[in-house]
Amino acid sequence: MAKIVGGLATSHVPAIGKAMSEQKFQDPYWKSFFEGYEPARAWLEKTKPDIAVVFYNDHGLNFFLDNLPTFAVGAAPEYGNADEGWGLPVVAPYPGDPALSWRLIEDLVAEEFDVSTCQQMKVDHAFWIPMALLWPGAQRPVRVIPIEINTVQHPLPSAKRCFKLGQAVARSIAGWDKDLKVVVMGTGGLSHQLEGERAGFINKEFDLQCLEDIVAHPEKLTGYSNFELVELAGSQGVELLMWLAMRAAMGPEAQVVTSSYHVPISNTAAGLLVLEPKARAMAEAV
Ligand code: DHB
Ligand code: FE
Repeated sequence: MAKIVGGLATSHVPAIGKAMSEQKFQDPYWKSFFEGYEPARAWLEKTKPDIAVVFYNDHGLNFFLDNLPTFAVGAAPEYGNADEGWGLPVVAPYPGDPALSWRLIEDLVAEEFDVSTCQQMKVDHAFWIPMALLWPGAQRPVRVIPIEINTVQHPLPSAKRCFKLGQAVARSIAGWDKDLKVVVMGTGGLSHQLEGERAGFINKEFDLQCLEDIVAHPEKLTGYSNFELVELAGSQGVELLMWLAMRAAMGPEAQVVTSSYHVPISNTAAGLLVLEPKARAMAEAV
């Protein structure tokens, strides 16, 4: 049976892609930021997942304001990206697994999540930058299922709804009758706002509290409305919704493998969190 081996959440700032392509790993601005990912990569090397289910928000590459699904699940054989105008390299496509995607879609629709289905899907910086941070370069050791969540054009799905989506994804994975290790990812956040009077807004106190609450008390975070999240974390800080979907997939109890918080990267409070479901951690301890 397929098994969720862990969860990973990370910011997806485009400038990280530029720094990686320019090999700025030792640059004083970047050094400690990149060092924060070393334990996450070590955990992945040890855990060796086969599949990554990735909650992310498209920022206008595959979907635009005229046609923007609330939730969309990829069912493509591969997922390429394209120039978004940030001056970043276009990276090699990520392999998909259409059969598993359709299994997930069938389960989600049966659970009354009326998702869009994408047999072609380009993935933007919110997808490939986290992937490149965790599996650098051209390596593609995991097959991916991207799940887009609209955090771009209001009305956005609520934190509660995204949490329920993550729970439904976990139930589907638990029913896949294949011996697969699955990592669930959420990308975006933490606090940031890119436009308007509050451009540059960062709320360190809120972010640090989030990093704690999302582990032990995620229901505190799902209690916020999106307008409260915008107020507390900035208009793009609402990307926290993807973190909540990931957290939900870990089940009631999760434990931290590693986390980091680095302010700022570009205009963003950059966060990283790696979790394991508690049952797995306990099974290994025995
Ligand atoms: C930045 C952050 C984002 O989440 C994003 O999607 C684009 C840009 C930034 O801080 O530059
Ligand atoms: Fe973003």
